[in-house]
This record gives sequence, structure tokens and C-alpha cells, in this order.
Amino acid sequence: MLRYWESPETTAVHRLRPQPVAESAAMALDGTWRFQLLSAPDAEPGRDWAEVTVPSLWTMGDFGDPPQYTNVQMPFDEQPPVVPAHNPTGVYEREFPAPVDWRSRNTVLRVGGFEGVLRVELNGALVGIAKDGRIASEFVLDAMLIEGDNRLRLVVSKWSDATFIEDQDQWWHAGISRSVELLSRPATHLEHLDLTPTLDGAAGRLRIRAGLSFAAGRSQPGHALRVRVEDLGVSSALMLSDGIPRGPETDADRASMLAWFTSEYAVEGTPHDARTLLQRAEPMPAGHCDATVEFEGVEPWSAEAPRLYTVVIEHLDAAGEVCEQFVRRVGFRSVAVTGHELLVNGRAVMIRGVNRHDFHRRTGKVLTEHDIRADLEELKRWNVNAIRTSHYPNDPALLRLADELGFYVVAEANLESHAFMHSICDDPRYLNAFVDRVSRLVMRDQHHASVILWSLGNESGYGANHDAAASWVRRFDPTRPLHYEGAIRGDWTAGHRATDIVCPMYPSIDAIVRYATSGTLDRPLIMCEYSHAMGNSNGSLADYWGAIEAHPGLQGGFIWEMWDHGLVQRTADGLERYAYGGDFGETRHDGNFCCDGLFFPDRTAKPAMHEFKQLSAPIVVEEMSTVAGEFRLRNRQHFSDTSGFSVVWTITNEGSLLLQGEVDVPCLAPGDTATFSVPEVAARTAWEGERLVDFSIRRREATVWSPPDFEVGWAQFALPGGVARAELITDTPKVVVAADGRITFLGLRIAPQVCLWRAPTDNDRIGGVAASWEAWGLPKIRREVTGRESLPDGGVMLRSQWQTSTGYAVEHHQVITPCPGGVQVREHVFLPPQLDDVARVGTVLALPSCRAFEWFGSGPFETYPDRHLSRIGRWSAEADDVAVPYVRPQENGARVGVRWLELEGEKARWRITTDEPRLMSFTPYEAQELAAATHWSELPKPSKTIVHIDAAHRGVGTASCGPDALPQYRVPVGVHAWTWRLQRLP
Ligand code: GAL
Ligand code: MG
Repeated sequence: MLRYWESPETTAVHRLRPQPVAESAAMALDGTWRFQLLSAPDAEPGRDWAEVTVPSLWTMGDFGDPPQYTNVQMPFDEQPPVVPAHNPTGVYEREFPAPVDWRSRNTVLRVGGFEGVLRVELNGALVGIAKDGRIASEFVLDAMLIEGDNRLRLVVSKWSDATFIEDQDQWWHAGISRSVELLSRPATHLEHLDLTPTLDGAAGRLRIRAGLSFAAGRSQPGHALRVRVEDLGVSSALMLSDGIPRGPETDADRASMLAWFTSEYAVEGTPHDARTLLQRAEPMPAGHCDATVEFEGVEPWSAEAPRLYTVVIEHLDAAGEVCEQFVRRVGFRSVAVTGHELLVNGRAVMIRGVNRHDFHRRTGKVLTEHDIRADLEELKRWNVNAIRTSHYPNDPALLRLADELGFYVVAEANLESHAFMHSICDDPRYLNAFVDRVSRLVMRDQHHASVILWSLGNESGYGANHDAAASWVRRFDPTRPLHYEGAIRGDWTAGHRATDIVCPMYPSIDAIVRYATSGTLDRPLIMCEYSHAMGNSNGSLADYWGAIEAHPGLQGGFIWEMWDHGLVQRTADGLERYAYGGDFGETRHDGNFCCDGLFFPDRTAKPAMHEFKQLSAPIVVEEMSTVAGEFRLRNRQHFSDTSGFSVVWTITNEGSLLLQGEVDVPCLAPGDTATFSVPEVAARTAWEGERLVDFSIRRREATVWSPPDFEVGWAQFALPGGVARAELITDTPKVVVAADGRITFLGLRIAPQVCLWRAPTDNDRIGGVAASWEAWGLPKIRREVTGRESLPDGGVMLRSQWQTSTGYAVEHHQVITPCPGGVQVREHVFLPPQLDDVARVGTVLALPSCRAFEWFGSGPFETYPDRHLSRIGRWSAEADDVAVPYVRPQENGARVGVRWLELEGEKARWRITTDEPRLMSFTPYEAQELAAATHWSELPKPSKTIVHIDAAHRGVGTASCGPDALPQYRVPVGVHAWTWRLQRLP
């Protein structure tokens, strides 16, 4: 057998180009198939068949070939295009009946998607071969069909030359990932139909390039297309070429043709008449056309207002009968890069995007349209307006839904040669594959309004193969700019042939600002990846957006990424967990680097999404003067006014509602601002506690993804004044401090101690700072009391030295005084210069397991110093809801700006009050326990509540892939002072 799996030049055999086949399948072949797993593509199947469901991946079944996760490294040692001799190969087999009338028609097998390389056999004969399984592969079956039952066999092999250009950072799977179906078309049918909609002012243009495939390959004249835009009530007819050349008939025409032939028009341009003559003399092939139809008065499409029109294209045969019909929803919009701006319909839109893989925690990569819709509706609820289909074409449903719901899409080709990025891009054996993959993407998706940029792939270096692919796209679809990060990697002034966007990954804020202000920026900068969402991450998102909004030329980016790719796995002890690299017994893997999304594997949002949502709000309220009660409304949308929104305000006093009302929202054009006042804010009354004014910005009407009055953004401002609340507790217990410095009353399970460490986040670990903490001995520190004095008020003054396990000493002073119901502790820590950049400086203590919490501070979700956008309020939570179950356990559950916390235990209630707003956390887990566990399911059963009260806490940053926490979010050396109170409530 030809070793097609080690032949990069062979991208496919007998595969059709991506085409507009009939919308619905004539016969669905999904369901139960016979299956066996062999060890090589050319191995012969045996007699024993198992059963599988199509579509499904055998790596997610019990066939002894589990998924494997690697990032850059390949899963094997062989060099391209050679792959391991042991090459898992799934044989899928079933029969289907071919209706008699199909014999006079054209029957096409469509395999919607596969992981690996595909060979198709029908009734024992080879039909064809396909690679690039993330776009449907279609094959003509016609002459091979027999009457009655036909035996169809799909042979999928896991490894091939294509594996080297599918080295995306994700699980390696194998099998059939999308539906298999049969299509039935007239013998003479449209073989391609390329629709390219654009917008010019209020005129919509639709370029239609079509070509027939004739029965038996013999041309027939007289076929035509009828194009109708339903909602515009317009239609026009296009004759398809008959392919017959017709020479000039008059002397004048002959003279004009000769003039053209001898290049007389080449300098000044060819006159229209001569052009017409030429088209007659050298016509398009039979059955083809290339025409542009114009429609007046169309409403433009945008992600904000995704107006779609239904275009119906009918194929009329020579007798004028409709023999085929195609329905497409198209949107008219323009895309251009002009100077340093990416313009959609003439406006520089902000890209508030997310990278999205096709992923499912139970099926690996098999998705239903329902799943995809749920993903996109979820993204809409979080104000995401753009998706990069990292790093391959997604299910066609994604594009349909992006058109409908409104997303800007960077459509990426299935091309990543990460492990061989410096060779394959210039390897002529792979030239065909590069052009093939990019062009198939463009042919499949070009009619989608949502697609605004074509991406040549990801992390494949930059070579001649890229320029070839880029050149093909520029010619075929001049209506969209190109995107390719490899072309500008390391030099943002380079790579113009392959990218119109400067689309770096993980640049620092400083770098993008320097680019924007360099004077050399000649293209817009849109980060193809930034803010790596691995574990507890996405620090400084607000700083990125501060820079983006302040500098023309910076137009946003795509967060890496939507998903934590944790796969549901049942362990030997019966617990479910999210598996990552290494959990299937494999030795070559990249651990939990695949768990780096804004959403947990089950599509619940991580706390970082709240930060993203707020930064991406379509409308914002800004403070002018709280004293005068004046504010400003800013419409950040590009195409829509503010009429669909309401703004509700509330004034609260330490979380209790005082007053509320609704702002009379002025109708602002896109980009406009207006001031408004809330006189109640200005009114002066005496009050106790903190007063805040909150604005809630809501979309009035329901949408497909949201109920009426859905909040899209908020604002909060502190109001001046206020006095401290009076103390409610009266009896003051005696302070008890043991000889070793421990405070031992009030029901404490672990006495308050200094804490300088946290369970390393993925960013801390991969970024390297956790190793310094370990080297400094911060995880385990021990106290030596060096001085003790009794105070006249019944308190104690303690001097201690905390010794780290590797010999650093940290000076610590405490003034412990009685207070009503408990104790007040004033603490000073002197962090020596050697301990520059610790995790935190604060107090940790433990109380008996508490079941409910109420606090006044940021919330209700987790916040950190560099990811803290949330409202200060009076929040409450049950014990189960405060910790954040990052797939690999790590520091979590903090809330910044906490003024007080009340904890409710089985037998008692406590209150902790801080001298000023502090970062606090209150979860069941000690830092040591979190750090020791590799999966959430390994954590001990909750038996206490661990409370941290921090004077300083390091930001989370994004150092697992990208910049570390900025200097202003690190913990400085020197003196840290804080005071807190613990009271037992009556
Ligand atoms: C990028 C890459 C992504 C992913 C990410 C890290 O380099 O394009 O596919 O690997 O880093 O999670
Ligand atoms: Mg990669």
C-alpha cells in the first residue's frame, strides 16, 4: 500500500474542494458502527468487531489508547515525515442502502471531521484519502455504489506527516469528531459557490463565483443562477458561461482585438468594449461565472447589531427549471486595515476577544451545535465580542452562530508545526499542505460576515510556504486582511507579506505602549494571545486595557484561552476529577498547562471573567464630582446608541440600601459622552459607616442570551464623610497569650501566626517565584519569642523572631490588647532586604469549620490586588462557595478590600475587623494542603476555616506564559503594619 501517511505532498486523494452542497443530508450515517483498533494503517482487520458511536474519539473510549497532552514537544521522537511504526488505526465499518434513484444522481460522502488521517473504502475499493480533518472531507461515490447494501469503511490513523503540522497545544486524540452523512445532488450540480459579501456605504455587494460540475464531465449550455435576497425583495439572474469562444465579427471589433493583442491598451487601460470582446473570445469555462450583484439600502452587519439577510441561490437548468437551491445567511460589512487601524464598516472596533478550542470535558472534541451555541451565548453574557478559532477551523456551526449572535472572528487554518517551526515552513514537501489548509478554510468560510481576518495558522515559524498561502488568500479573497503571528515574532515592523495585523502573543504592556508611541507603527496591534488564564491568573487585565484605550493603534486582543481542557476521569477510588497531562499514565506530557482557560471544564466562569466583563462593558459611568452628584455616561459601542440600556443607581450605607432610582439615560451616539446628575448623591445627611453610590448598567430588552434588565456593567464610587459605627459588644475577656506567643482563646483552632507564603499559583510555579520562596524557606516558619511585656490595659507586647526553614530571620512585634468580646492585635513585620518579593505578609489563623460567611468588602467573587474590579458590598456565602476549585489546587479565594468578616460556626459566631480594607481569605484549606494536592479531589475533607488577613499580597500576574505581576503588585521589603480584631459574637 502507498504509504500515504508519510507523504506530506499528498494532502488528499479524490477529495472535493469545500463546496456548498445541499444544506441537509440525504442520509445521516451517525450512530452505531462496527469498530476495531489496529496497530498500523495497512494492518488487516480481524474478525472481532466492537461497536462505537459515530461521531466519537476512540481515545475517549476503552480501547487502550488514551489521550495524551503535549504542548510544543511531539508525542514521539521521529522526524518529519516519519511516524512511529505503531500507529493506532481505527477501522469504522457499516452498511447503508443506496436508493435506486441515486444511480442517476451525484452521491457524496461527507466526513464532517476527524482526528488523524482518513482513508475511505466502499465495497472493498479505495474511494479516497484525506488529511486536515478539521474541515469536512467530501468524496464522490457515484460509480462505486452498488444496488442494495453498500459497505462503507472509514480508516482513521492517528499519526501521519500531518501530525507535524497539527502540533497544537492540546490533547492528542484520534477518531471521528463530527457527523458522517451522504448527500445527493443532481448529476449536473454546482461544484462551487463562493459568496463574498461586502459593504460600500449603504450598498451591499455580493460577489458570486460559481462553477458547475457536469454529468459525465460533458458541458451543457444554458444553465443559470437566480440570486434573491429575501428581506430586500431583490433578485437577479446570472447566466453561466457556455464556454464557447466567439471571435470578433466586424472589422472594427477585429481591429480592437488586435490592438489589445499587441498591448496598445496596456498603458492607458483597456476600453470597456474591448474588454467585452475579450471575454467573448476567451470565455470562462462552461458553467462558470464571476459576478457582483449590488443591493441598495442594506443595514450593515456588526458584532453589536448582527443584521443578516437570507440569500437564496437557485440553479436553473437549460429548461429553466430549478434543480438546486442554496440558502445562506449573509451580512454586509466591510473590513480594512487603514494605517494603524482595523476598520469594520469604517470604525476602529475594539477586539475584546477570547481564544477558543473545540473542546468538551466528556467527549474530548466532539461537540453538538447545542454545545457551541451554549459556549457563544455564555461568551455574549460576559461582553466578549471576538473569537479566534485557535488553532484550526471550528465546526461550521460556530461560524453560523457567530454571524447570528454577533462576534468578530479570526478564522485560523489548521496549521501548527511548533516542534519543527524552523524547518517545515520552508520545506517544499509541505508547501502543498500549507496552501491546501489555508485555502480550504477560506473557501469554506468566506461567506461568513463574522470572519474579519484570516489567520495562516499558529506557531509555525515563518517561511516560503506561508508566503505562498498568503498570496493565495490575497488573490482569492481581497476583502479581508491577513493575520499571522509568526510573521512578526520578534520584529513588529516585519512580515507584511503574511500579516496585516501586528498580532503578538503575550507582550508586556510596556512593549505595546512603546510600539504605539514609536512612530514606526504602520499596522494595528491586536494581541493574538495575552493574559494567560492558567489557574488563578489574569493579573493586570485592567492595566492592559488602560494602555489599549489610551493609545491609538492598540486595538485589543484575545485572552488565552476560553477553556481549561480538563477531561472528566474517574479514579480508582471512585472520585471524579479533571485529568490533565500525565493522568492517563503517559510519561511524555506537559502536565496541567492545558488547564489555562477563563472557564472551568464544565463551562462555569472563573472569577477572572468578572474583571473581563467589567472592562468590556459597552457603556460606562464615570465620576465627575460625588460632592455635586455629577457623573458622565460614555457610550463605548461603535455602532449602537444607548437607547437599549437603562442605568439604575443605589446609595448604600455599609451595604444597606438607603435610596435608589433610575438615571434618565440620554440617547448617545456611538463614542459620545454626556453628563448627568443624581441630586440624592449630593444631599448631606449624617450617617454612620461607609456610603457608596452604585450604578448598574442594564440591557432593557431580553436577548437570545440574556433576560430583560441584564446587567452589562457597573460603576461604584465612595461618598465622602461617615463616622465609625458604635461597638455593640460590651464584655471584654481577658487576653490569653501562651509563653510561646500563641493567642489561645476565643475557640481558635490554630493560633494567629505570621504568614509570608501562599500555595503557589501556576503563575508562581512556572514563573519561578515559588522556587525562591522555597529556597528562602517560607513555607515553614517558626517563632522565637524574644521579648514580652505586660501592658497596663491588660494587654501584652510581644517581640518575636520568625525563623524560616533555611535560616532567614524576620522580626515581628505585636501589641495584643483586650477588646469587647475578644482581642485586638497590632502587628509589625520587618521584612529583610533578602526576602524581596514574598507571596504575602499577614496573619493566618484557623477557626472551627464555619458554614457561612458575611463580609463587607469586594465580592462576592474572588479578587486579588491586580485583578480587583468588583463592588464593595455586604456579601454572604456558604462555606462550599468561597474556595475556587482551580483544576490544580493553588492559592485561591481571596477578597480584597475587606473591612469586616463574620463567620458562622456550629457553636459560635466570630467577627474579624480590620483597621483598613485588607485582602482576606476564608477557605477550608491550609496553604500547605493546597500546595501538596495535584487535583481538587485530593484535598482533605474540610475540618476548619483558615483565615488570612494580609497587610500585603502579591498580585497574580500571568507568568505561566507572559509577564509576571507588575512591580507595583509585589510585596516590598521593609515594615508592614496592620491591625485586626477577633471578636466572639454573643
Ligand atoms: C501559545 C500558543 C497556545 C498555547 C499558549 C500557552 O504559545 O499559541 O497554543 O500553547 O501559548 O498556553
Ligand atoms: Mg504551540
